[in-house]
Amino acid sequence: MPAASTTDPAVHDSAFLRAARREPVPHTPVWFMRQAGRSLPEYRKLREGTTMLESCMEPDLVVEITLQPVRRYGVDAAIFFSDIVLPLKAVGVDLDITPGVGPVVAHPVETLADVAAIPDLTPAHVDFVTASVQRLVGELGATPLIGFAGAPFTVASYLVEGGPSKDHARTKAMMFGAPEVWEALMRKISGIAAAYLEVQVDAGASAVQLFDSWAGALSRDDYARHVLPWSTQVLERIGATGVPRIHFGVGTGEILDLMGEAGADVVGVDWRVPLEAGIARAGGRAVQGNLDPTLVFAPTEVMLERAREVVEVGRSAPGHVFNLGHGVIPATDPDQLARLTDFVHEVSAR
Ligand code: CP3
Repeated sequence: MPAASTTDPAVHDSAFLRAARREPVPHTPVWFMRQAGRSLPEYRKLREGTTMLESCMEPDLVVEITLQPVRRYGVDAAIFFSDIVLPLKAVGVDLDITPGVGPVVAHPVETLADVAAIPDLTPAHVDFVTASVQRLVGELGATPLIGFAGAPFTVASYLVEGGPSKDHARTKAMMFGAPEVWEALMRKISGIAAAYLEVQVDAGASAVQLFDSWAGALSRDDYARHVLPWSTQVLERIGATGVPRIHFGVGTGEILDLMGEAGADVVGVDWRVPLEAGIARAGGRAVQGNLDPTLVFAPTEVMLERAREVVEVGRSAPGHVFNLGHGVIPATDPDQLARLTDFVHEVSAR
């Protein structure tokens, strides 16, 4: 079944998808990682009394929360409201998202038997995702929907550490010291990520983002040897659907070229990397980024001046999607993001 969005010419012709395809745009498209969520009072109100993972499985809530930032800011793309651990939960891994902490896994993965106990993902595991995406695509009209998944390394880190980690020490210990377990785990979660992205694209998502948030913890050589082949596998499977693929991580300046080569159409650039350098390392691909997310706490004129620089440098890229260099910080004033969106649209209009 072809994705619904590919049949809608207005979505196909949107500034966001044009930039991702490196075509001329009417203005620089903008969206914000973590635009749906805790920085919005209407989100906090809607979420009252419902846990994060319950919310992700309830299409009424997913549709409304995904639409909230689109209505409020007029951003050029919606990001599907979910979490990178949701597909694991859906196949039966015992985990939860603890407020203020993040994903917590009851029985961290250590052995081959632990890996074997994780089922592969089938569309039936995530029928609520199919339902949510289909309804969203109907409601969004000309605004594209970005589906997403966690990349194998970042998801492995939660599974092996059992929760958030600063040094990813157990994960790297497995990578260095138990290669057969590492490979089995990467094979399993690469398959889950690809299948989960395919479900979103089949239901109508018109782009995907692979979040390898913690890949910056790896040396270039270890990334190339132990992680890149698996992320490549995921991105290649999605490449077959024809939708643009964004590949993003934090602290990944030294591996941006490899993240592009993994099969990205758009390389996500964090705020540490000068955008000029990001564009060069992306090797002819489009780029996404990269305003420091803390600039929203600066005076508005300071934030907008820095945004102007990002837009100007972005013009020299084959394609540029304006975004923050990482997710919206929960304490962000939504009015600052509204001003930022309008400003990027105005200064980039052509
Ligand atoms: O607007 C959006 O970006 C949509 C949805 C989204 C969420 N998580 C919702 C969420 C997306 C794309 C993610 C991805 C995600 N989740 C990543 C990759 C992106 C990144 O930021 O690097 C990672 C590493 C996670 C894991 C995770 N889930 C963390 C670190 C946290 C924060 C824990 C905390 O409370 O500080 C979560 C929880 C989470 N995911 C929330 C939301 C809205 C907060 C839950 C709540 O509202 O209480």
